Amino acid sequence: MRLARRMGRLGTETAFSVLAKAKALEAQGREIIHLEIGEPDFDTPPHIVEAGCRALRDGHTHYTPTAGIPELRAAIAADVARSRRIEVYPEQVVVTPGGKPIMFFVILALVERGDEVLLPNPAFPIYESMVDFVGGRPVFVPLRQEHDFRFDLDEFRAGLSERTKLVILNSPANPTGGILTPEDMAGLAEILRERPDVFVLADEIYSRLLYTGPSASIASEPGLDPDGRTIILDGFSKTYAMTGWRLGYGVMPEPLAEPVTKLQVNSNSCTNAATQYAGLAALAGPQDSVDLMLAEFRARRDLIVSGLNDLLGVECIAPKGAFYAFPRISGTGHHAVALADLLLDEADVACLAGTAFGRYGEGHLRFSYANSQENITRALERMDEILSQSVVR
Ligand SMILES: Cc1ncc(COP(=O)(O)O)c(C=O)c1O
Repeated sequence: MRLARRMGRLGTETAFSVLAKAKALEAQGREIIHLEIGEPDFDTPPHIVEAGCRALRDGHTHYTPTAGIPELRAAIAADVARSRRIEVYPEQVVVTPGGKPIMFFVILALVERGDEVLLPNPAFPIYESMVDFVGGRPVFVPLRQEHDFRFDLDEFRAGLSERTKLVILNSPANPTGGILTPEDMAGLAEILRERPDVFVLADEIYSRLLYTGPSASIASEPGLDPDGRTIILDGFSKTYAMTGWRLGYGVMPEPLAEPVTKLQVNSNSCTNAATQYAGLAALAGPQDSVDLMLAEFRARRDLIVSGLNDLLGVECIAPKGAFYAFPRISGTGHHAVALADLLLDEADVACLAGTAFGRYGEGHLRFSYANSQENITRALERMDEILSQSVVR
């Protein structure tokens, strides 16, 4: 089939292909431990599920306004205003089916052929995929274990050029679990204030899943709020264990909210109506489920980090947010893809090669610890057995 040439520039998310391979092995009778896919294993809290069901029973089975129901846009504006300590208006909020469409729409709306986009590497693969797709040029700022997977601000500054149109930040980060500290944000803001023509996409989908220190958002920095040129991407998938509902949002300058809404009219029309009412209940209701989930993630993080550090040739620093560990595995003598394949084929443990997130991910694997402590322990035992036989010296 002769597809449009642009399709050749579209990337993908390896997590979904590894999941498919792991499922195929399961269909052959193998028992795989899933540490590849990035979604909370918890159920959506019951009061949120009930609100979604009630919305359907109450007849919310129709289209909604494209940018979202007014009550939800207002609730999101209030929540973001409180958590980032800034002013936010409902008109700046666009509700989308998951956080991903915000990435897609914002890049489509802003980036022209030849424009440069500064982004972390390793990072969520869809950033690079989308920038390539629209004909932009990704410029990578490496995230290294030696630097706690934070930007080196000199490297960040050096990456900016006359052609830079957009900068993408992600904290807490996928795949590293690293964060940008309040000091990092202040430093980035200082650099970005010199470049008022550059937009900032702040992917804060893991903002509530933070283990240490105060959370920091570039949007809280003077001159970088969403009234100017910052777009906050956040949503319900990770915070409220709602990946399958598809509910996210962007908070952006009003003049950008309009074209982004237009892109949504041209694609999804609107976000699922009942899902939006469920989201409203999530924001308005008790938050203790988020705290309980975070406490469990913290226990799993401690378990997996200490277990990984006990493996031959593996070295892991403690992630500060999200639910990913990103150990260095170069001491095993294997490349990332080869080791991820070996672990799936021989140990029945599914994980991702760091290179699935960009070239600076070489020498690392990503483990999602959104799985029970029991399964994490079993996975560590299986990996220990394989690695003690196969470390290349
Ligand atoms: C960094 C990052 N941003 C955005 C998303 C997309 O979230 P959603 O499922 O709400 O579209 C993910 C999902 O894995 C992610 O890791």
